Amino acid sequence: MTLGSESKRREQNQKNAVKGIMILERLTLTNFRNYRGFDLEWSPGVNMIWGANAQGKTNLLEAIYFLSAYSSFRPGVVGEMVGKSGDFFYVGGDFISGGLKHTVKAGYSLRKKYALKLDGNVKRRLGDMIGVLNAVVFSPDDLFLMKGNPEERRRFLDGEIAQMSPQSYAVFQRYHKTLRQRNNLLKELRDGGGDSAVLAAFDRQLAESGGYILWKRKEALDRLLPLTRLAHRRITDGREELILSYVGGFDFLKESELRRFSLVQWQDTFYDVLQDLRKEDIRRGTTTFGPHRDDISFTVNGDDVKKFGSQGQQRTATLALKIGELELMKGQRGEYPILLLDDVLSELDQDRRTALIGVVNEKIQTFITGTKEQDFIHRFLHNGNGLSIQIAGGVVLSSKSV
Ligand SMILES: Nc1ncnc2c1ncn2[C@@H]1O[C@H](COP(=O)(O)OP(=O)(O)OP(=O)(O)O)[C@@H](O)[C@H]1O
Ligand SMILES: [Mg+2]
Repeated sequence: MTLGSESKRREQNQKNAVKGIMILERLTLTNFRNYRGFDLEWSPGVNMIWGANAQGKTNLLEAIYFLSAYSSFRPGVVGEMVGKSGDFFYVGGDFISGGLKHTVKAGYSLRKKYALKLDGNVKRRLGDMIGVLNAVVFSPDDLFLMKGNPEERRRFLDGEIAQMSPQSYAVFQRYHKTLRQRNNLLKELRDGGGDSAVLAAFDRQLAESGGYILWKRKEALDRLLPLTRLAHRRITDGREELILSYVGGFDFLKESELRRFSLVQWQDTFYDVLQDLRKEDIRRGTTTFGPHRDDISFTVNGDDVKKFGSQGQQRTATLALKIGELELMKGQRGEYPILLLDDVLSELDQDRRTALIGVVNEKIQTFITGTKEQDFIHRFLHNGNGLSIQIAGGVVLSSKSV
């Protein structure tokens, strides 16, 4: 990299800081997957990461994503990201958000311990770190959002919520812990043991965290719906309308009623439902109602995309959802998040690619992986502000400004 291009990059970073986008300036890795070490300054515009299969392209996106969610977007446990030359990995990043420079350092050891620092200060809770940097990832696996189980869609929505309201992370954890305890107790009660006074305490705890989750999911979906619908309309030239709706929750209540619900009402109503279903829950030995059983439905022109959508329609809906996600975060934080596109560009047809480029152009720092250094990345370039790196075996083979 020449000194000239570095100073140009710095200048561009400063301009972008004013424009309201998040920019990852630098990433450092130690013993992360197949990277023994890595240290690179990125372009504030488009970064193309290319190379043959299994060389570490997705691993790099995963490392960047880790700095936003402290987990992976790929299935599996965090420990799997620890490389072979030690029992820990380390990811560090310098980034700009809110016009200010920040530094994060995050370590994870096989003893399941995180070591976290933000701007030099030690942070003990993940909730203090999640969402400080925001990232949206779009990978071929995202098609499972349309085709897969409800669990995938819940994970998507909850991930959104955690990035936007960091305090919610602890609530999700609390909910799942209480749910496990309550389910164990329900089985005991069914089999003639257990203490029903303890059940009453679990009901209260579950309603408190569960009501909060339902409340947050409703809010997130209400915001996401118009943004996704608009993106979808643009991609399909107004021919198709995508609607997202929440399935489950309090769908026995009217929308107009729910709209006025306060957090306490969500929690109280949840508690009431648990009381109504208590006998049934004991009989079945499990909690039959709650956010852990809900889903999101996607319909295009009234038909369920999951059941009736073509491959193309499912792709379009997924792309619209991702664009909606970018706009949602921008609306919440006042800044566009970082965008990670894993192997998706070559899979999109011309219209969809154009739609995506239209959103990204000049305003979102983007990281794109592919097996070839593709020509179309030039269409993503922000005034010729881009970087292209070739990866082989967890090492940067070449790097050039484009
Ligand atoms: N914990 C780990 N330690 C060391 N190497 C790992 C670890 N986890 C994964 N790898 C290696 O990383 C490589 C895969 O990297 P990655 O998924 O980033 O490939 P890719 O370049 O995106 O390939 P593709 O083009 O196929 O998507 C594999 O060779 C795998 O063995
Ligand atoms: Mg890959």
